Amino acid sequence: MNLYKYVSDAINEKLGTNVNLETPRNREFGDFSTNAAMAMAKSTGKNPRELAAEIAPKLAELDFVESTSVAGPGFINIKLKDEFIWNAAAQPQAPKTSTPTTIDLDYGAYNVAKSLHIGHLRTSIVGDTFNRIANLLGHKTYSWNHIGDWGKPMALVIAWIERLHPELPYFSDNFDPETDVDFEINPSELNTYYPAASSFAKGNPDFQAHAQEIKAKFQDGHAGYFALYEKFLKISLDMMNDTVKRLNILPFDYDLGERNAAQYLPDVEKILRAKNLIEPSDGAEVIIVKRDTDNKPMPPYMWTDSRGADTYDSTDLAAVYCRKKTDNPDKIIYFTDLRQSLHFEQLFRASELSGIFDYNNFEHIGYGTINGRDGKPFKTRDGNAAGLDDIIDAVNEAVQARVTESGKTLDNDTISAIALAAVKFNDLMHDVRSDYIFDPAAVTSFEGRTGPYILYTAVRLNSVLKRATFASDSNYMPMCAEERNLMIGILDFERTVHTAFENRATDMIANYAYDLCQLINTFYHNCPILRDDIPENIRAGRLHIVQVALNTLTKTIDLMGLKIPSEM
Ligand code: ARG
Repeated sequence: MNLYKYVSDAINEKLGTNVNLETPRNREFGDFSTNAAMAMAKSTGKNPRELAAEIAPKLAELDFVESTSVAGPGFINIKLKDEFIWNAAAQPQAPKTSTPTTIDLDYGAYNVAKSLHIGHLRTSIVGDTFNRIANLLGHKTYSWNHIGDWGKPMALVIAWIERLHPELPYFSDNFDPETDVDFEINPSELNTYYPAASSFAKGNPDFQAHAQEIKAKFQDGHAGYFALYEKFLKISLDMMNDTVKRLNILPFDYDLGERNAAQYLPDVEKILRAKNLIEPSDGAEVIIVKRDTDNKPMPPYMWTDSRGADTYDSTDLAAVYCRKKTDNPDKIIYFTDLRQSLHFEQLFRASELSGIFDYNNFEHIGYGTINGRDGKPFKTRDGNAAGLDDIIDAVNEAVQARVTESGKTLDNDTISAIALAAVKFNDLMHDVRSDYIFDPAAVTSFEGRTGPYILYTAVRLNSVLKRATFASDSNYMPMCAEERNLMIGILDFERTVHTAFENRATDMIANYAYDLCQLINTFYHNCPILRDDIPENIRAGRLHIVQVALNTLTKTIDLMGLKIPSEM
């Protein structure tokens, strides 16, 4: 049950108002409070405190209300009946939207032959959790791993392999695709090609120009380049799969990116030409997306570059066309680095102008940067820009060190699960749009707002249930403050999921998990369960509370894609 909504709907219905409920910090006087009397006093000219005194008894008539009281200038505190809370918490927490939509989600978006950078961590984690939230609510989602598999990096890698192995037949314009070539690319070397080639290109205009030429021919279907590309594409796709598994994110519905989109370019071009939207500009072709009302620079959207090759811009527009055709979504949401905001603004405008997809149904969720303790983008120990794997490795090490220090022994899978939770939770708990500081030692603490703390709490509940030789009892039992607060916390799950979805705020899920764990641990410390002197009926009731708390915590943990180990 969405407790908050249930209570506020009932109150508004009773009073004929439309006011928001508050959840007071101090629960002693009430579980909720409302300023309904103050709002009504304004329109009727009555004294708010007097009006509150008139309304409070009316609200006490609601069948789930235990008592009401008036506070301050006219707030009404509402205390709910224990039994009502108990029964509501016993129902499965199953938030559902009343307006299911179809949503295309563009996240991950890994690149072929380029190692994953730190930003890919955020797009993957936040995109995946958002996908899980939307699914839980009953929306139909399609996740697109919009792979970078068509642009200049492909050409640079081909050019680099040509430099290393000029004897290979792939580079000839007359390459026969039937040719059997005895050449294998070493997967661990592959990711070094692009950085090597791009830094080499900086000092070598000839190499640079050659790569441009390769890009144009490759996109035109050059058989040799294509055969070589297929070799490293396969290696890259395997690596992407490993990443998906390592991060424990849902498999993508589509691993289709720029190259797939490029097939739709001729269709899109027809639409654009018919509307006269393509203009020549210094040898390139562009779409003007500037509006008269703009007060910031709004450069043209690149349709083709000066060599006539496809661009990141053009394939992104074609991808929208493709998605509209295949999924016909109500919304398309992109999760990338904030620094791509201008690109997406341009894309949304170009789509609107061409009539391919409405501007208002696009969203770009731009995330901030992961920084080190010095406030600069996180680096590895040797001072290089950290990649996605470096982050995970650093955290694995930190977890291992902590575990060794505490004298425990945990197997490798458990260590990995804890490390993954540390990384993902720390990422999720921050507002997506903000930068955050990443400190491997801090995120792996078993206490405080961390992933390991969340897992530890779940492991603890599991272990209570495992050790219990008594049956739990879901029949109502009067509750003490800690039990009651926990049950109310559980009943905030549905509201949290709805609000997280509406606000695109995945951090609400992580922070809810933390708040719930705090309530669980306060309950655990104050309400002994398995101790011998605890009467059997109370033990049975508390075991029931443990069970419902664990159900809700597990759902929350699932939304973040964390794995609960069997011991910690
Ligand atoms: N591959 C790009 C990168 O690694 C991100 C692509 C985002 N999605 C898109 N449709 N442009 O930065």
